[in-house]
Amino acid sequence: MDQLTITDERTGKTYKLPIVDGTIRALDLRQIRVDDKDFGLMAYDPAFMNTASCRSSVTYLDGDAGILRYRGYPIEQLAEKCTYLEVAWLLLFGELPNKQQLDGWEKEVGHHTLIHENVKQIIDAFRYDAHPMGILIGVCAALSTLYKDASDVKSAQLRRLQMVRLIGKMPTIAAFAYRHSLGQRVTYPDNRASYTGNFLKMLFDVGGDWQSHPVLERALEILFILHADHEQNCSTNAMRAVTSSQVDPFSGVAAATAALYGPLHGGANEAVLKMLAEIGSVAKVPEFIKSVKAGERRLMGFGHRVYKNYDPRARIIKECAYKVFEVTGKNPLLEIALELERIALQDAYFVDRKLYPNVDFYSGLIYQAMGFPTEMFPVLFAIPRTAGWLAQWDEQTRDPETKIARPRQIYCGAAKRDVPPLVGRG
Ligand code: SDX
Repeated sequence: MDQLTITDERTGKTYKLPIVDGTIRALDLRQIRVDDKDFGLMAYDPAFMNTASCRSSVTYLDGDAGILRYRGYPIEQLAEKCTYLEVAWLLLFGELPNKQQLDGWEKEVGHHTLIHENVKQIIDAFRYDAHPMGILIGVCAALSTLYKDASDVKSAQLRRLQMVRLIGKMPTIAAFAYRHSLGQRVTYPDNRASYTGNFLKMLFDVGGDWQSHPVLERALEILFILHADHEQNCSTNAMRAVTSSQVDPFSGVAAATAALYGPLHGGANEAVLKMLAEIGSVAKVPEFIKSVKAGERRLMGFGHRVYKNYDPRARIIKECAYKVFEVTGKNPLLEIALELERIALQDAYFVDRKLYPNVDFYSGLIYQAMGFPTEMFPVLFAIPRTAGWLAQWDEQTRDPETKIARPRQIYCGAAKRDVPPLVGRG
């Protein structure tokens, strides 16, 4: 048995802690105390920089080698050979579907693309200029009031029903929110189309001669596959923490969507486009890089908590961008992005900090070229990530080690003191 021997120099006592899967159990530290009144040692790890919160078999990352696998399959192969719904099945059920399973899955998800008209009225109640991520958060939470069977999280059959409902309805909610922002009537789902084809149709087909383009449909499939899961990222951690109280998955996805909304996480793709537009030209890139190195700005779309190498997704997205631009015309901001990358990959400030392009650096350029407004970019992250959040939720619900998430703290506040009378307080 691998083990760690610790000597507490306060008492001279020695402890042997088992090492399992490269970790020690934090609870094993509690036996290390100076006397019986002592609570025992804890691990202090703000932002969980070095803490495993769970066991998971969904996604494997190797940040140094730039490896990403879903259920053991390399992301490069999944992006090349699969559809998004195939990958969603893989994440949720652990294996790639066979033809019969996939056909049934596509029909099952297609059967749940409609949203209740009450839900559409909730979308319509938002201001026309409400950020679509705010609408998505609100509507996901509202769905929990519609599907009362969602609170029975112990039922595998009901968990599967909520998974299908959410995967089916997220594109519809997103498209209806987009149309609401334009003041346009909605286009209802067309289940004869592919998952992304139906989504693009609900977004852009206003009854004229719009036709879905196979290259753009496929590009969105690839982007959805790349965004489907990513181990214990911030929004997945939110999903796990919130649903550890056994609340329904709609409320959990609302919380996860809220976490993804932040500019350091899923909001980064929107922030990248704003950054590129603000730089404005290739000539101004050196000046911007200077401001980043001076600590005045962040190079959005660069850096990652896990990847200390090129994000494998960014490489695939960059290749995908060229295919999209052949159809849509090149995004003029691409040259600025390429110059930023060229400089950053050779500049010691970025190299020393192991800052490389991440999934968000190029994705926004594709979305913009496809006609999406920047506010929709994080929504295009939330839709595919729903499969990952649900896979992680289902795994947690089945994990016998799962308990309600309730971290401890180091108290650094005031010592005991008495309440002074209101009159005369400072
Ligand atoms: C996603 O976790 C996931 O898996 C997330 C995700 C997923 O699929 O779910 O991959 C999706 O969220 C991708 C990341 C998108 N965010 C951005 O592109 C925003 C810009 N990047 C960062 O702010 C930052 O890199 C983070 C938030 C992604 C990671 O931050 P960390 O791990 O907490 O690192 P840090 O902030 O402590 O930075 C370490 C050093 C610091 O310098 P020093 O203080 O040591 O001098 O690197 C610097 C930071 O200032 N740094 C950057 C930088 N990112 C880190 N400097 C300039 N530009 C950046 N982008």
